[in-house]
Amino acid sequence: MSSELAVVVLAAGKGTRMKSDLPKVLHPVAGRPMVDWVLAAAEALDPREIVVVVGPGMDSVAEAVAPHRTAVQAEQLGTADAVAAAREALAGALDAGADVLVLYGDGPLIEPETLRRMAAARAEGRGDYVWLGFRPEDPTGYGRLQLDEAGAVTRIVEEKDASEEERRIGLCWGGLLLARGPALFAQLPRISNDNAKGEYYLTDLVALGAAAGERSVVVECSAEEVRGVNSRAELAEAEALIQGRLRRAAMDGGATLTDPASVFLCWDTRLGRDVTIGPNVCFGPGAVVEDGVEIRAFSHLEGCRIASGAVVGPFARLRPGAELGEGARVGNFVEVKAATLGPGAKVNHLSYVGDATVGAKANLGAGTITCNYDGYRKSRTEIGAEAFIGSNTALVAPVVVGRGAIVGAGSTIAEDVPDEGLAVTRAEQTIRPLAARRFREKRAAEKKKG
Ligand code: UD1
Ligand code: CA
Repeated sequence: MSSELAVVVLAAGKGTRMKSDLPKVLHPVAGRPMVDWVLAAAEALDPREIVVVVGPGMDSVAEAVAPHRTAVQAEQLGTADAVAAAREALAGALDAGADVLVLYGDGPLIEPETLRRMAAARAEGRGDYVWLGFRPEDPTGYGRLQLDEAGAVTRIVEEKDASEEERRIGLCWGGLLLARGPALFAQLPRISNDNAKGEYYLTDLVALGAAAGERSVVVECSAEEVRGVNSRAELAEAEALIQGRLRRAAMDGGATLTDPASVFLCWDTRLGRDVTIGPNVCFGPGAVVEDGVEIRAFSHLEGCRIASGAVVGPFARLRPGAELGEGARVGNFVEVKAATLGPGAKVNHLSYVGDATVGAKANLGAGTITCNYDGYRKSRTEIGAEAFIGSNTALVAPVVVGRGAIVGAGSTIAEDVPDEGLAVTRAEQTIRPLAARRFREKRAAEKKKG
């Protein structure tokens, strides 16, 4: 743990443009709340603590970021006021002379590597304040960084307060700052709201610090990393960028994505080597895919573990608690939930396997359904190794089909089947010779009469 670093994440913004009942920073990107991406990037620096600044009543954010602490900014009076709201929570860190890193909770794209470069600038003694700069295609709306000949930052001017000439500056502040904590908090009370927006600007620290002999420097990053999310459209853009990163990481790790753009990964999806993912595959949280697995097109997977050599899909759905053994097969229009399939087990067509244990090399025919729910409780189905379940069988749980047993097609199995036994519940078949022909002749004659 770095005792020299504390982190403040600003998340008091209401996110009005999201038009949502959910606080903005809790909207998910690749399956996890935006603010968790920010926390994860900060955690990579191993800080002594992280404090998230929230607005009044944002208890759901406090819950989501626990065990990290939150500080409440009573009114949104500007970014300097937001950082000041964390003062009490940071008292210990400030006493210890820690650095303070300020991040935005609505900026999920920031990468740990960039934070490390900021930390390096501090460690090398380049300045008291390290501002993260970037050069957007269109700088409108951002604070512009003014540099002196030596490359030090002399002032940051907000769009609304900038002159024509200042607005032409391409280098902007991305919203991240790493500062010597005691210096930062000594200056904060000196910041006034005497500006176009009537807000307490964190960016005023540059000029105030300079007057006190404190130096500001800039570290630059790509525009992508400091992209903020203020609307649903920007949320979708952040999702696309993070999906791009996840897909690249999956391929770098040895997975083949036939059509990367149509594969949706989750932040925690784990893919082994020589995994092949077909087009239009979607992962929810908690999927672990071991080496050599093939996931065919249009499958949806979450909360599942797939052992090596298994084949899933096309059009399969693995829900939480699905565990597939080595070389198991789950085919088209098959749903598996809270069920373990032993090595080499096959469920190839049109089935529902829920709350079940299926032994090694068992074969479940097309349309096998585990009837696991009676409207009140869930019950389990156990199918032994090498059992064979005929097509269109309903297994009424709780029920056990023994090892090596056979169930005849079309059966409804409500009682246990012993090992090696055969069960069939089909009604007996009757044959009436030529009755089909007589039926047709009769109907045709009726039709002719009108
Ligand atoms: C701010 C910067 C600007 C920079 C830009 C980068 C200031 C004065 N301006 O402008 O130089 O280029 O970010 O995106 O700092 N927040 C609070 N409480 C507040 C105000 C803001 O928590 O009282 C949070 C918001 O939730 C948001 C972040 O701080 O996550 C930025 O606030 P915002 O008002 O959007 O700042 P900008 O005007 O975009
Ligand atoms: Ca903003």
